[in-house]
Amino acid sequence: MAPEDAKRDFLRRISEYEKVYETITEPHLSYLRIVNVGSEVYMSRINGYLSSRIAFYLMNLHLKPRSIYLSRHGESQFNVEGKIGGDSLLSPRGMQYAEALPALVRDNIGDAPLTVWTSTLRRTIQTAQFLPYPQLTWKSLDELDAGVCDGMTYAEIEQAYPEDFANRDDDKFNYRYRGGESYRDVVVRLEPVIMELERQENIFIIGHQAILRCLYAYFHYLPQADLPYIKIPLHTVIKLTPRAYGCDEERYTLPIEAVDTHRPKPKAAEPVIRPTTAREYYTTSKDETHKIPTLEAP
Ligand code: F6P
Repeated sequence: MAPEDAKRDFLRRISEYEKVYETITEPHLSYLRIVNVGSEVYMSRINGYLSSRIAFYLMNLHLKPRSIYLSRHGESQFNVEGKIGGDSLLSPRGMQYAEALPALVRDNIGDAPLTVWTSTLRRTIQTAQFLPYPQLTWKSLDELDAGVCDGMTYAEIEQAYPEDFANRDDDKFNYRYRGGESYRDVVVRLEPVIMELERQENIFIIGHQAILRCLYAYFHYLPQADLPYIKIPLHTVIKLTPRAYGCDEERYTLPIEAVDTHRPKPKAAEPVIRPTTAREYYTTSKDETHKIPTLEAP
């Protein structure tokens, strides 16, 4: 569309809105009015936790074009051993990824300013070490705390804590590790990170599987139940470019092999009917002549 036509169309739309919009003037109402994306903000009766969080959030938004880059740390020694959590160093292949990152970022971003955020864990700091940009470490970006399961493989967890393992498969978003965190806890702890991300321009986050799932789900508006299963592979940079209604995405996978740490959602087991008692046999049999009447509750 020619810019002049776009402008005319935009102004026409505003005049259509003006015909139906009503200015709030009632002093007893709770409202927030933002002029020109935050150049002026009016607040009326904003009190209570949620409305003040919403006001703070909206005050931090901007419309400048920018991209957010997400990458997990390079493959770690724990990744190779299939262990979760911990604070291990990178594997040799993880180090290759760290060395290859600067060229990938430079080719993509050119001279535009960029800031790198890492967690406080060694594998993310090591991955960022060759990137020639300002760097910031965030405790809030540390991987989901697996509590008593930290340092174990999934098979070891299943053996030591079978009930917990099943509960996590049942509701992964809400399951909280003993002495650790749930995805829901992580979402809450990421709030200041998201708030700051909204204020900033180009940011490259070098993080962890669970953490990047939460950030990715935020930018793509993905539902909570799907969030813990999002695929965030190693040795891949995900570029997110927020737009007015959604977010563009590009992925760059470097040709450096790495283990796959994604554990898919187990399929719900098919109900198996294995009659073991006479009562079970009769109540589950398709042969109606064998059916015994269900007892009425007294
Ligand atoms: O396996 C790597 C890892 O980052 C672990 O440290 C962490 O516990 C896990 O991924 C999170 O993924 P999931 O929630 O699928 O177990």
